[in-house]
Amino acid sequence: MISEKSFKINPKEKLEAKKRLVIISDTHITRSGGAFNLHAFNIGMEKINKIKDASVYLHLGDITHMGTLLEYEYALEQFKKFEPLSKSPKMVFLIGNHDAMNVGYLLFEEMVGNRHYAYEDDDIYIYGIDSTKPDLPGGIIHHSVIESVRKKLEKPDRENKFKVVCFHHQLIPIPNTGKERSAIDDSGDMLKMLLEAKADLVLNGHRHFSNLYTVSSSEKDLFIFNAGTFCCNKTRYRELFTYSIIDIDGNNLNFKVIPVLDSNSQREILREVNYYIPLQIDKKQKPIARFIQISNSLVSERFESNFNNFDKALEKINKIDEVDLVVHSGNLTKNSFKEEFQIAKDKLNQLRHPYLVVPGYTDSKPLAWEYWKHYFGEFDPLYENDNIYFQGMNSTTFDSKEGYIGRKRLNKFIEKVLSLSHQKIFGVCFFHNLIATPLSVWRTELIDSGDVLSQFARSQIDLVLNSSPSISFNVKIENTVFSNGGNLEGKYFEEVFIEIEIYKKGLVVLKEHNLRTGLIKVIGNYYLSILI
Ligand SMILES: [Fe+2]
Ligand SMILES: [Fe+2]
Repeated sequence: MISEKSFKINPKEKLEAKKRLVIISDTHITRSGGAFNLHAFNIGMEKINKIKDASVYLHLGDITHMGTLLEYEYALEQFKKFEPLSKSPKMVFLIGNHDAMNVGYLLFEEMVGNRHYAYEDDDIYIYGIDSTKPDLPGGIIHHSVIESVRKKLEKPDRENKFKVVCFHHQLIPIPNTGKERSAIDDSGDMLKMLLEAKADLVLNGHRHFSNLYTVSSSEKDLFIFNAGTFCCNKTRYRELFTYSIIDIDGNNLNFKVIPVLDSNSQREILREVNYYIPLQIDKKQKPIARFIQISNSLVSERFESNFNNFDKALEKINKIDEVDLVVHSGNLTKNSFKEEFQIAKDKLNQLRHPYLVVPGYTDSKPLAWEYWKHYFGEFDPLYENDNIYFQGMNSTTFDSKEGYIGRKRLNKFIEKVLSLSHQKIFGVCFFHNLIATPLSVWRTELIDSGDVLSQFARSQIDLVLNSSPSISFNVKIENTVFSNGGNLEGKYFEEVFIEIEIYKKGLVVLKEHNLRTGLIKVIGNYYLSILI
């Protein structure tokens, strides 16, 4: 086995001095009881006051519960208890969706401060953004703000600083928080910008559950940390009230999640910021596995006699040698009509490679499941050969845009993966995407996406393929490559399919074949720790 580390580079360490960020979030302060736990707040305050060497204290939003004047006044009164030992600046506050309720965003500006803030010294740059929509639980960043943050991050004199971006709502789905909802609408655009602008750390609150993901582009790691709630009674699963300390020392990060009421069970996670350089592949070197990813072929009866995008894609795919599996990740038919399934099946049968199809939203209209069974058999098809173990899953629900995987099916699959002890490349495919794509509105339609994403990334599934409503987009989260793409629907975007090669040393190369221009370009380059 060759580990990931073989290909990592470590440029000059960014920080001359150590930095300590102390994070609290979601205090939900109110006089009317219910949400606010004053006991936890008081104990928590005593504890964070005693933290030594804090560089900055950050509150990630939902300071108040309803954003009313009485609550803001009461919250400011409570925060007089904040008297830190460290000679640090005062606590900086972000606005949360609860603070923006009832025109609370005006009170926030009048009583707390700016809705956007910056903290900067010689080593670190922290930028906080208002992600709220007045009176609504969901969030948005806005195109103009995303571009202005990009400019701030890419400023040449900040190149060697450790760059932190904070906003209240979650950027990607978080486990153990129930139905995934109220993320930011433009998550895909924001995530893409943060990766391109080489941000180091993202801090989010809102979900009342702490979580850390290492999200990697082809060039660099980005950490996305979600803080839990400091003192709101709306806790989730077994995590109660917490605060977090993030120590940054060179390229090493130490995340501590500390319970307010029971300091003995603190969680500590160590991570290192890694930079990657693409490995040159010898042209004679053959991949150990090759996949093709397509979706949204939207076959309709009218297309029968025409040569359409689907035919073009299949013809091109047939010219590629040694394809292990062609994966169609949903929206095979336009209307779920019987004839459409028949045409789609006939077309797929022209492939000279094995293929696997899962249904998408447009394949789930009434009667579709009968037709699916008739033409394609399994809803959760499995394909296995000497090198790969690939599971398709039906994530759709009958005639609805919402989908789910479900705990039972998820656990069964993860158990199977663990039992095979990683002797093969593991892939999984279903329609609903887990990661937002740029140029689309992110509504997180997979209800259990938080748990599914977390289980996949932490069980070392190598490859997760989902449909994309827009352009092709891929990232690595922990040790799993997530690819959204292969969109053959050419109304808004150019028609493409994705070719994915996995080489022996764990190098994964994703190429986009553009059917309109005929061009092939590399759109992703990652290293996985693989054992075969
Ligand atoms: Fe909250
Ligand atoms: Fe919130």
